[in-house]
Amino acid sequence: MLSQADNEALTRVGPGTVMGEYMRRFWIPAVLESELPENDGKPVRIRLLGEDLVAFRDTEGRVGLLDERCPHRGTSLALGVNGECGLRCLFHGWKFDVNGQCTDTPAEPEGSTLAKAMRVKAYPVRSAGGMIWTYMGPKETVPEFPHFPWFDMPEGHCEAFKVIYECNYAQSIEGAIDSAHAGVLHRESPWGHEAKWPHEKDLRPKLEVEQTSYGLRYCAVRKDGELNHGRVTQIPLPFYTFIPPDGEKAPAHRRHRRLINAFVPRDDVSTWHVQFFYDPTQVIERQHRIDEAGTYHDENFIKHVNIRNWYNQDRGMMRTTNMSGIVGIAVQDHAVSETMGPIADRTKEHLGRTDMAVVGWRRALLKAARTLADNGTVEGTPQGDIDWSKVTAETFLYPDTQHWKDVVPLPEELHAAVKSAA
Ligand code: FES
Ligand SMILES: [Fe+2]
Repeated sequence: MLSQADNEALTRVGPGTVMGEYMRRFWIPAVLESELPENDGKPVRIRLLGEDLVAFRDTEGRVGLLDERCPHRGTSLALGVNGECGLRCLFHGWKFDVNGQCTDTPAEPEGSTLAKAMRVKAYPVRSAGGMIWTYMGPKETVPEFPHFPWFDMPEGHCEAFKVIYECNYAQSIEGAIDSAHAGVLHRESPWGHEAKWPHEKDLRPKLEVEQTSYGLRYCAVRKDGELNHGRVTQIPLPFYTFIPPDGEKAPAHRRHRRLINAFVPRDDVSTWHVQFFYDPTQVIERQHRIDEAGTYHDENFIKHVNIRNWYNQDRGMMRTTNMSGIVGIAVQDHAVSETMGPIADRTKEHLGRTDMAVVGWRRALLKAARTLADNGTVEGTPQGDIDWSKVTAETFLYPDTQHWKDVVPLPEELHAAVKSAA
C-alpha cells in the first residue's frame, strides 16, 4: 500500500513533476527506426512523458525530434511538408531543421529577421537496437549514451517492438516484476487441471530482492524435484526489466532468447511498451513473436484486442485451454494491469509475500526521484558507465547447498553502495 502522496509522486511524469524530472535524466527509447524508413518521409507524432512531439527524417537522413506545435500559432508540424532539410508548417510555411532552428518564414516581409530568432524545442537523438532514443532533460546534464548488449547483435538477432499499454507506466512495470503471476495468469491449462510447466506446478515462488547500483534484481525460487529452479530478473531504473530466457527445458526458440522491456511513460495514463527480443544463437522470428504476444495493433499502436472489447476473453477457452481465456502473453499482461484503471489506486491494495519486488522497486524509484528533487543528484552508477553485459537475467537449476547469488553473482562494481566518481 502507498499513501496518496507517494502514489502521486510515483505515477505523475509530466514536466516539473518529481518522477517526470527524474526520468528526463535518462536516454529513453522513443521511436522505432522502422517508423522513419526514408529521408523526407512522413513525420511521426509521438507523445513522451506527457509532451507532444514530432519526429522526422530529413533530406540528409538526420532525425529531428521537435515540439509538435508550431511556435507561430500552434498548428501540428506533423501535418507539414518534409523536404530540403526541414519540416515546413502547413499553415504559413515556417520551416524548422532537426535542431529546432527556424530557417524560413515565407509569409513575413522581405528582410525579416524573425526566422533567426525563432526556435522550437528539439531533443537530441541517437539510433541503436532498432530504436531512436532521446534525452529530454537539461542540456547541461546529458548523460553518456548507454551501451546495451542487444545493440551488438548480428543482423536479425534483435527485434524491437512497441505497443501502447493503456494505463500508467508504474502498474505496467509492476506486472513484469511479479513472478508469481506466471503460474496463474499465463497458465497453459485451465485452473484445477494438471499444470504443464514447473512454474505452474509451484505457485508459491520465494522472491528475494537485492538492491544494485543501477536499480535492483530479484530471484524467484521454485522447487523442481530435488533441485531449486531460479529465475533472476533485472530491474534497472527507471523503467526497465530484463527478463531471463526460459532455460534448457523450453522449446528451442525460447531457450536462449532474452527479453528487455522498457515501460516508457507516454503520459500519466498510457505507456509505450517497448520490447527488445534478442538471441545471440539464432535469428528472432518477428511474426512468431507477435503471434505469441497477441499484440496486433493499428497504425497508432493501439491493440486490436483491448479493454473496449474486454480482451475477447473466451469463457469456453478458460474451461478447456488456458486459465485466462485471452490469447497472447502480452495481452494477458495488459489486461490485468489496464483493468486496474488508468492510474492504480495503491492506497486500496493489500500486498502479499509475492509482491516483494514490487515493493522494492517502488521504494528504490521514489527514493532516487526524491534525491534528485532534493539535492540535484542522480543516484547510483550512471547508465553510460555500466558494463551491461554483466547485468544478466538467468534461469537455472541449483541444489540446496548453493545460494542463487553464488550461481549468478553480482559484480563488485554493481553493488548498491558503490558510486561512480562522476
Ligand atoms: S502556425 Fe505554423 S506557420 Fe503559422
Ligand atoms: Fe506476465
